[in-house]
Parts: sequence; C-alpha cells; structure tokens
Amino acid sequence: MLLSSLRLHEFRSYGQVLLTPPPGVTVLAGKNGTGKTNLLEAVHLCCLGRSHRTSQDRDMIMHEKESAAVQVTVQRRDGEHQVGVRLYENARRKKLIYVNGKIVPRMGELIGHATCVMFSPEDLQLVKDGPQARRRFLDMLLSQDQRSYFYALQNYNNALKQRNALLKSLQAGGDPRQLDAWDEQLALCSAPIVRMRRETVEEMKKQATSHYTYIAGKNEEHFDLRYVSQVADAENVSEKLLKLLKESRAEDLRRVTTTRGPHRDDVELYLNERELKSFGSQGQIRTAVLSLRLASFDLLTKHQGETPLLLLDDVLSELDATRREKLIERVSGAQVLLTCTDISDLSEAKPACVLRVMNGGLIQQ
Ligand SMILES: Nc1ncnc2c1ncn2[C@@H]1O[C@H](COP(=O)(O)OP(=O)(O)O)[C@@H](O)[C@H]1O
Ligand SMILES: [Mg+2]
Repeated sequence: MLLSSLRLHEFRSYGQVLLTPPPGVTVLAGKNGTGKTNLLEAVHLCCLGRSHRTSQDRDMIMHEKESAAVQVTVQRRDGEHQVGVRLYENARRKKLIYVNGKIVPRMGELIGHATCVMFSPEDLQLVKDGPQARRRFLDMLLSQDQRSYFYALQNYNNALKQRNALLKSLQAGGDPRQLDAWDEQLALCSAPIVRMRRETVEEMKKQATSHYTYIAGKNEEHFDLRYVSQVADAENVSEKLLKLLKESRAEDLRRVTTTRGPHRDDVELYLNERELKSFGSQGQIRTAVLSLRLASFDLLTKHQGETPLLLLDDVLSELDATRREKLIERVSGAQVLLTCTDISDLSEAKPACVLRVMNGGLIQQ
C-alpha cells in the first residue's frame, strides 16, 4: 500500500499541511514538541477512526478551532482509496467519515481502506499495563484485518453496556430474570470475537517468536504469547459463556458489573516460560513489543496481499545499532513514515525523503 497524500486542516499544531510521501522511507525530523507524532496520529485516525494516544477526539482539534479534518489517499492493488475524517468541538456533532468523497453512515466503513502498523514509545505499556492494553492491541489489529471483527466488537460492547445498565437498575429492585435476554445476546456476540482472537494469537505466535530471536540475537531466549480467556477452550463459546453468566449472576448483581466474557480476556507474554511483565528487563520488553508489532505487520501483509503503511514514532533512538538495523531490514519493502529528533540515528534506513518538522509546517531537506 502506498500513501500518496496526507492532508490536515486545523489538526493539532497544523493549520494546513499537505504531505505527499514517496515510496520507501520518509523521515520526519525535528525537536521535541514540534508536531512529528501529530502527523502519524492523523494517519492512524484515517486507518482506524481514532487516535492511538487519546480517546478524546476533541484533543485533536487545533486549539480555539471548531473543527479539524484529515484526509489520506492511498494506492492499493485494487486502485485508489480516499478516506477522510472530520471532528467537531461541539460535543453534539458526531464525527464525519468520508470514503472516496462520500459521507458514510457507519464508522466501520472507514476500516480496510488505509491500513497501518504503528510503533510508538508508549508500546512498552503493552507489556507493563493491565489486560486492557493487550485487548486494545488485539482489537485494533483484528479490526484492520477484518471489518466483520469491528462490527462484532461493536455489537458485543453494546450488549455489555445494556447488561451493565440493567444490573445497575436492578439494584433498586426488579426481576433479575430480565437479564436472560442480555445474557443470550452477550453469549451470541462473543463467539466471533473469541474465535478471531484465538486464531490470530495462534497465527502470530510463530512470527513473533522468530522476530524476537532474530532481533535479540539470542537463541536461548524464547518469547511466547498465550491467549487467555474464560471461554478460550470451549468448543461452543456461546454455550459456555451463557453457562458462566448464569453461574455468576448473583456475583454480577452484587458487584453491579458483568464479570464474565471476552471483555476480561488477556494475552499473556512469556519469556522462557516466565511472565515478561514481572521478570523482563527493559531491553527484553522493548524487543518483545517490536516483535509483536512486526508480527502484526506480517499478518496484515499476508491477509491483504500487500504491505500496510508503517509508522515508526521515535523508536530508533531507543535501540542499539544492531537492533535498529535488524528492525529496518525486516520492514524493507514497505512504505515507512519515521520520526526522529536526530537523523544520525537513522543508520541504515536510507531515506527517500527527509522533512524537517517545524511548528506548524514541514520543510523539505
Ligand atoms: N489541539 C492542539 N492544538 C494546537 N496545538 C496542539 C494541540 N495538541 C497538541 N499541540 C501541540 O503539538 C505539539 C506536540 O506535538 P507532537 O507531535 O506530540 O510533538 P513531537 O514532535 O514531539 O512528536 C506541542 O507543541 C503541542 O502544544
Ligand atoms: Mg512525538
């Protein structure tokens, strides 16, 4: 996939900017706080409909402005795709999604036109944080991989919200049998999510392990991932979850929340059978996260028959020269947008284009 243009309007620090990156590596160089990550965030917004670093869309609107717009054009094997997002300061106005010039009613329709894998400094949290961070990682990857996953997740989250609302209203009294309908709905919606998560973790495992060994350069360190779910091993996921929901009903009523289901899933990360989170060094954690991102890149490349766009935010400076070279070698062939403060960190990256990022603008070097 080739990103041929990125256009921003009143997005974060940019009034107006147009970027037309060539194939290969485009370097965005500049001091801290000049707006490098903002550019990658804009691309991410067009690929997934949301930022990689905030859940508040309004944060992305330039201060004092009412609205922001971002548009990308990509060339894929099947032709040109254009995706745009417009955000509004006014909380009552929903964000607008454009695909090939037309407004589309559902967020899901944005997905699958422009595809990216983002490497960012916050990725370390993938290992260190709780299960939610790893579920988000899987959800973002799977949504880009299959739009049906995005819709399945939306359905599940809606059902979960309704069930939790009912649990809350039942505190004031009422017949708990009203939960039956939501239990069934949740159980039904969970099946495709669990199936796709299970398959994806299984598929990524081999790649992630082999990337780890290659980047670390050590055969004796074995990296592994495991999908953990209360219903992971069930032959019939819906039936199993329905049973668990019934069993936990009293507890759910007491705790006023749904304690069973894929919204409690995790992906555990191990190094030599020990949990990385508790035992991994900083370097091991960093290598593991790179391996997960590279495995995501492989998965999307395989399923879509072309490479996704790679967004590397400040990652090179964190790596030693050998790891840096290995990372660059593994992603050669893809189009890359790479940010850095110091272009001497680029080592073997051989950029096709270097842009200097200044407050609110870009200058070709
Ligand atoms: N909504 C916004 N409106 C205007 N400026 C913003 C907004 N959000 C962030 N900024 C500015 O963007 C800059 C940070 O951009 P960022 O891309 O994170 O920098 P870096 O180059 O370090 O990656 C800061 O100067 C910040 O003030
Ligand atoms: Mg940054």
